[in-house]
Amino acid sequence: MERKSIHGQWSTRLAFILAATGSAVGLGNIWKFPYITGENGGGAFVLVYILCVACIGLPIMISEILIGRRGRQNPMDSMGSLARDDGRSVHWQWVGLVGVCAGFLILSFYSVIAGWAVAYFFRAAGGLFHGVTAESSKQIFAGLTGDPERVIAWHSAFMAMTMFVTARGVQGGLEQAAKIMMPALFMILLLMVGYGLHSGDAERAFRFLFQPDFHRLTGAGVLEAMGQAFFSLSLGMGAIMIYGSYLPGDVSIARSALVVAVSDTAVALLAGLAIFPIVFSNHLQVGSGPGLIFVTLPIAFGQMPYGRVFGALFFLLLVFAAWTSAISLMEPPVTWLVERHRISRFRATMLTGGITWLLGLGTVFSFNIWSGATLWHMTLFDGIDSLTSNVMLPLGGFAMSVFAAWVMARSSSSGELRTSPGVYRLWRFLARFVAPVAVAVVFLNAIGVIRFS
Ligand code: TRP
Repeated sequence: MERKSIHGQWSTRLAFILAATGSAVGLGNIWKFPYITGENGGGAFVLVYILCVACIGLPIMISEILIGRRGRQNPMDSMGSLARDDGRSVHWQWVGLVGVCAGFLILSFYSVIAGWAVAYFFRAAGGLFHGVTAESSKQIFAGLTGDPERVIAWHSAFMAMTMFVTARGVQGGLEQAAKIMMPALFMILLLMVGYGLHSGDAERAFRFLFQPDFHRLTGAGVLEAMGQAFFSLSLGMGAIMIYGSYLPGDVSIARSALVVAVSDTAVALLAGLAIFPIVFSNHLQVGSGPGLIFVTLPIAFGQMPYGRVFGALFFLLLVFAAWTSAISLMEPPVTWLVERHRISRFRATMLTGGITWLLGLGTVFSFNIWSGATLWHMTLFDGIDSLTSNVMLPLGGFAMSVFAAWVMARSSSSGELRTSPGVYRLWRFLARFVAPVAVAVVFLNAIGVIRFS
């Protein structure tokens, strides 16, 4: 049965690819990938990450797009309808609902971190980093995150930007944002890479990123690489599923997914090539954690010629990347509200934005007035971050690939994928066995049932 999405569809295959790449490329690539690569010793970690993208990420992405395009509704109703079509339990719909909830939670902290990036854009453009030292850079960062009022203001601004695009709908909002921002992002990134390779320690950066030294990789690092593949490809909560639900029927799912996964990985590597040469030539620490770009890069921007311009461009890049990702985090809850509760897209956007904004205050306060309120050594932000990344996304991805490859009838999945028999068999093998087993290992590790290293 052919369904139609009530929200419309992407106007072209390219629009889908830009939007899905926009979802995938975000804080995960430019903020998180460099710092966890730094913490995990470089080359070997990068190699494992790429393997995870290819063997786990890609088949799960294909599964999500396939479910979305066949279901043509929000994640919950898509999974429920497809289960019913093939005579399976409608309880599969709860997987979609968990995804919708994960959307609220991830966006709540994502918006706060993106708010830091907006603040840093203005600081860089205003020349605040001129002559900054390691000590004063740390103070600038702490001064921002420690001040709830300022962070709330930037968080509110970022949520408003996201809601503005979402409220405009699929073709008028999501697609336009991706069409304008993705090319801009790519150009700024290439400029930054050019600068880094030209003026920084390019040779050392290449060796660090591409020369694997397996002694520096721990078991925990392997699992971290896998979790990062999920987060970076936007998998496990229905974001790519809902984008798939707007995909025209004649576009090849497998080929589009391949383009998106390759682009996302390329951007992460390019971000590494933009950042590490600067880090090395300024003798900054690669393993300095989440502060890597917010604390160390301003020092470099403060010293280099045209640092004000490059600094502003860099944080603009980060804001654009986060913006097109945040839109995709908003979409599953919004479509769920529109379809289940029969309210307009505008109202659904307001409601989703309002709830997420409120939840985001928990992350804002985790860095100041609630920083002492911890449970198992985690602040509320750490808790939401690890609940979503370590539990909800892996479980969601696991369930979605099991659903597409085991629960849906073979005729349904092959009818929707419409690819060559060889590609179909390869996808089915990866989605049936490789991805679920690998994800089970990540999850069991996260909850402590098994422990690596
Ligand atoms: N992939 C984005 C990033 O790398 C974040 C993101 C957007 C995401 N949508 C998602 C993560 C859905 C998990 C699930 O920053």
